[in-house]
Amino acid sequence: MEKGCILITGANGEIGHGLIRYLAHEGLYKIVALDRSPIDDYQKSVDFYKGDILDKNLIDELNRKYNFTAIFHLAAILSTGGEKEPLPAHRVNVEGSLNILNLADDQSNRTKTPVVVVFPSTIAAYGFATPEQRIAAGKIDEHRYLDPITMYGINKLYIEHLGNYYSTRYRSFEDTPNLTRLDFRCVRLPGIMSSESLPSGGTSDFGPEMIHAAAQGKPYECFVTAETRLPFIVMPDGVHSLISISRASRRSLTKPVYNVGSFSISAGEIRNEVLKYFPKAEITFKPNPKRLAIVDSWPVDVDDSAARKDWGWRPEFDREGAFKNYLIPGITRRYASQRPQQSSPPLQSTDRA
Ligand code: SER
Repeated sequence: MEKGCILITGANGEIGHGLIRYLAHEGLYKIVALDRSPIDDYQKSVDFYKGDILDKNLIDELNRKYNFTAIFHLAAILSTGGEKEPLPAHRVNVEGSLNILNLADDQSNRTKTPVVVVFPSTIAAYGFATPEQRIAAGKIDEHRYLDPITMYGINKLYIEHLGNYYSTRYRSFEDTPNLTRLDFRCVRLPGIMSSESLPSGGTSDFGPEMIHAAAQGKPYECFVTAETRLPFIVMPDGVHSLISISRASRRSLTKPVYNVGSFSISAGEIRNEVLKYFPKAEITFKPNPKRLAIVDSWPVDVDDSAARKDWGWRPEFDREGAFKNYLIPGITRRYASQRPQQSSPPLQSTDRA
């Protein structure tokens, strides 16, 4: 039997790495990967295209060459990066997504099989007016406080709606017989922590940056306050959520967008976890008001009960297991060959707003 074919955009990003590794290991699908920079853990089984999702000729070429069963559309400019360059971010996050939706729409009609489009949205789709309001709201479901303050959050929320529109109503005034629409599925991810890679341009980056710095023996100056709390998930669970929703039966999905969560933790608590394993870690707090304002507009925790009920979502790692069984062993291995550099400058994100 011919293998199904999966397209991954933003393949060289953090989630792309994890997703390609997972799917390549499974060996069930042909993988086509697209990114502006080469994928560094190149897998022989992957057809890699170096290019931009804004390049319509390239998208047309992919459309001609392959019949995709699923598309994981990961390419995006994150929240801090998007505030630094809002219009380029809008182009990638919105026009790039539109190119992918049009590709999937065309293929769904051509093959008469709905292409599953999996879209990772974000806690940045939410927006609280004040830090007090976010604390009072606590764990929130998918439907309230959707007033994002960043270009990234606004773009993601819009594509949530646009994807759903392509899935349910697009071309409804056309007289096209047997119109087959794409099948849009979306999870709102919390901040992600990976042992294998560091994020860039995000505002939840303080979590992973703190742990990676400690493992390298580098001091870390955190850009939010010790009290700043966000929901986080570790990379294997993030990848697992995207794979699971892509494979859920269509009938079980009652919403176009689902929260997925794992644990909620403050920057001070991340520091305490890190100190358990790296007692000499030097972590200080020097809030950056612009980046702090972004985090202060995001929820402290998410209610993911709908995903649990509809398609059996359940993270493998809780807060303790995330550090003990995944982050600390993985990050320690990653830097094991490097000597601690006690005299280096504090590790800070290169993407300061
Ligand atoms: N990790 C994203 C960011 O910080 C939020 O989803 O921009």
